Amino acid sequence: EWTPGQIIEDAIRRIRGQVGDDKVILGLSGGVDSSVAAALIHRAIGDQLTCVFVDNGLLRLGEGDQVMATFAENLGVKVIRVDAEERFLGKLAGVTDPEAKRKIIGGLFVDIFEEESKKITDANWLAQGTIYPDVIESAGAKTGKAHNIKSHHNVGGLPDYMKLKLLEPLRELFKDEVRAIGEELGLPHQMVWRHPFPGPGLGVRILGEVKKEYADILRQADAIYIEELYRSGHYEKISQAFAVFLPVKSVGVMGDGRTYEYVVALRAVETRDFMTAGWYPMPYEDLARISNRIINEVKGVNRVAYDISSKPPATIEWE
Ligand code: XMP
Repeated sequence: EWTPGQIIEDAIRRIRGQVGDDKVILGLSGGVDSSVAAALIHRAIGDQLTCVFVDNGLLRLGEGDQVMATFAENLGVKVIRVDAEERFLGKLAGVTDPEAKRKIIGGLFVDIFEEESKKITDANWLAQGTIYPDVIESAGAKTGKAHNIKSHHNVGGLPDYMKLKLLEPLRELFKDEVRAIGEELGLPHQMVWRHPFPGPGLGVRILGEVKKEYADILRQADAIYIEELYRSGHYEKISQAFAVFLPVKSVGVMGDGRTYEYVVALRAVETRDFMTAGWYPMPYEDLARISNRIINEVKGVNRVAYDISSKPPATIEWE
């Protein structure tokens, strides 16, 4: 049995041995794995690490600032923040097909990451937060089994011509070990225990065409939902919860007037492996409070629905 402290010490020794005086770049997404990798590598080699954080405009409310606060301000990690919202939304305009959207978001991420990495001219290592289950999963994908239903853009890495050596210090660790060392390294509890968030972000939680107006509405609704789940103690019992923006309008009534506004769907699932999942039996009183808050506080939404579909046949995400 290894303690988090021992895993960290061992990893630091290995990272120093591998990297020496070289420079390392890492794509920081704000997710658990890349965050823990960044904190660990920074602990090992300090300023030899530069992180690139691409804000694609499809992040949750306040997420970009949180990433900068945690890493740049609190931990003193070098982070280059790239504000790329306009580029992403520009390229996504008019695109409705879910797989096409994933390809655009993944492709643009790689392009922007490359542009930024080229500026760090003397880097020769690329660090990634690959964990043991990713290694297993991509081995499975090569045999053509199971996991190719959606193209998970963040597994698979960067084009060969970048000629960087791969540094993957979490490659032998399971998720709970990654979380434990994350906390030991001083990352905030909430960041380390967050539900998974897909690489394409809100891009696959806005059904059909992605627009800034929709993303802004979804961010507000999602933030209320998640805040209420923390407050009521449900968050930690749920494997993944999020709001989905439906680009359809339905009729409502407010005062003496008629409204004609968008619908938000709420998803919450329980699962061990994310291959199958059941919908979470949220108590009515919690649903009522969440629905009231979203409808009262988010302009543009007059109806909230709760998703009671299990996987299969539904998927966890709506796209
Ligand atoms: P589904 O919707 O296929 O999701 O039941 C299973 C798990 O995978 C996540 N997911 C993704 N993660 N890029 C990612 O990094 C993606 O394109 C993607 N699509 C789905 C999803 O959030 C859930 O945890």
